[in-house]
Amino acid sequence: MPDRSLLVADPRAGYLALKAEIDAAIHRVLESGTYILGDVVERFERAFAAHAGVAHGIGVHNGTDAIHLALRGLGIGAGHEVITVSHTAVATVAAVEMAGATPVLADVEAATLTLDPQMAEALITPRTKAIIAVHLYGHPTKLDGLRALCDRHDLYLIEDCAQAHSARYHGRRVGSFGHAATFSFYPTKNLGAMGDAGMVLTGDAELAQRLRLLRQYGWDVPQHSVLPGWNSRLDPLQAAILEVKLAHLDAATTQRRRLAHVYDEAFAGLPLKTPVEDAACEHVYHLYVIRLKDRDTRDALRTWLADRSIMAGIHYPQAVHQQPAYQGRMRTGNMAVTEQAAATVLSLPLYPELTDADQARVIDAVRSFFQHHP
Ligand SMILES: Cc1ncc(COP(=O)(O)O)c(C=O)c1O
Repeated sequence: MPDRSLLVADPRAGYLALKAEIDAAIHRVLESGTYILGDVVERFERAFAAHAGVAHGIGVHNGTDAIHLALRGLGIGAGHEVITVSHTAVATVAAVEMAGATPVLADVEAATLTLDPQMAEALITPRTKAIIAVHLYGHPTKLDGLRALCDRHDLYLIEDCAQAHSARYHGRRVGSFGHAATFSFYPTKNLGAMGDAGMVLTGDAELAQRLRLLRQYGWDVPQHSVLPGWNSRLDPLQAAILEVKLAHLDAATTQRRRLAHVYDEAFAGLPLKTPVEDAACEHVYHLYVIRLKDRDTRDALRTWLADRSIMAGIHYPQAVHQQPAYQGRMRTGNMAVTEQAAATVLSLPLYPELTDADQARVIDAVRSFFQHHP
C-alpha cells in the first residue's frame, strides 16, 4: 500500500485538533443571527491586535485586501511608487496595483530571502511613498534598518505579515514596527481561517477609523458614504474560528519551531542550506524552506519525495517579475538573489500536527536522496 501523502501544510489536521471548540464557536454564530461584522468580529479584532501589541485591528476579507486598503488608507494611489520584493506571493504586488500605485521590486538578502534595505534604498525616487516589507516564510525583515530608511525619506512602512503571525524582532512581535501591518488568515497560514480572512493592524487611530470606513462602502453610518470605499468585511464565522485558534497560536508556534530544529539537526552535513534564523529574530516557520545547489537538484529531490508521497512545495517557482502578467513592465533592481532563490528553494512539510513519525519519513527520504545522488 502506498504511504499516506504528506503535504506542506495540513489545515484539516488543524481543524480536527480543535474540532469541538471550533464547532461550538460556529454554532454560536449560526444561532446569533449576526452574519456580517458585529460583536464576534470586534472581539477578535481586539484580541488579535492585543496579541501583536498594536492598538487597532480592522478585520477585512483577505490578506490581499488588507494590503490594498492599508495603501488606500495612507493615501497611496495613482502616481505613487511602492517598493517591495519580487520573491513573495503575487498578492503583495497585485495589491499595490489594486491601489492604483506602481510596484517597484527590490532584491532580497541572501541569508533570509527578505527585503534588502540597501537594494530598497537604491530604488527610491521622488514618487516613492511606501515600502512593503514581507516577513517571508515566517522570518522578520530587518525592521530597524527599514524603519530608519523610511523615516529618513519620509516614506510609510507597511509590514506584510501574512506568513509571520507572532514572529519577533528584537523580542517584539512583528506588526508593531510599521505604520500599518497586514495579515492573511488563509487556511494554511500560521493562524488560518476556514475560508478567506485578513486584518490590518495600526497604532494610528485616525488610519484605523479610515480603514473601517473603506472596508464598507465608506459608510460612517449605514447607507451614508463619506468616502468612496469597497466591500471587504471579515465575517463572524471566520472571526469565531480564528478566535478559537488564536488561543492556541503560541503553542502551535512553539511546535513549529521544535519541528524546524529537528529538521535543522537532521540535515546538518547534507549538501543543502537549512533556513537561517537571524540572532535578532524569532522565526515562526510558516514554511520550512531548504535550498539546493541548483535547479536540477531541487527538481530531482522534489520528484524523489513525490514518489514517496511527500508533496514538497516551491515558494515561489517564479518571482513576480518573471510571471507572464508582470514580465517586462516592472521596474526592478538587480534580481540575482531572487532569481537564484526561485530556482533552488523547496518547502518541506511542516505544521503543528505533523507527527514525529511523519517527520522521520521526510527526513529519511531526504537523506536517501543524497545517498543515491552523492
Ligand atoms: C506574503 C503574502 N502576502 C499576501 C498574501 C495574500 O493573502 P490572501 O491570500 O489572504 O489574500 C499572502 C497569502 O497568500 C502571502 O503569503
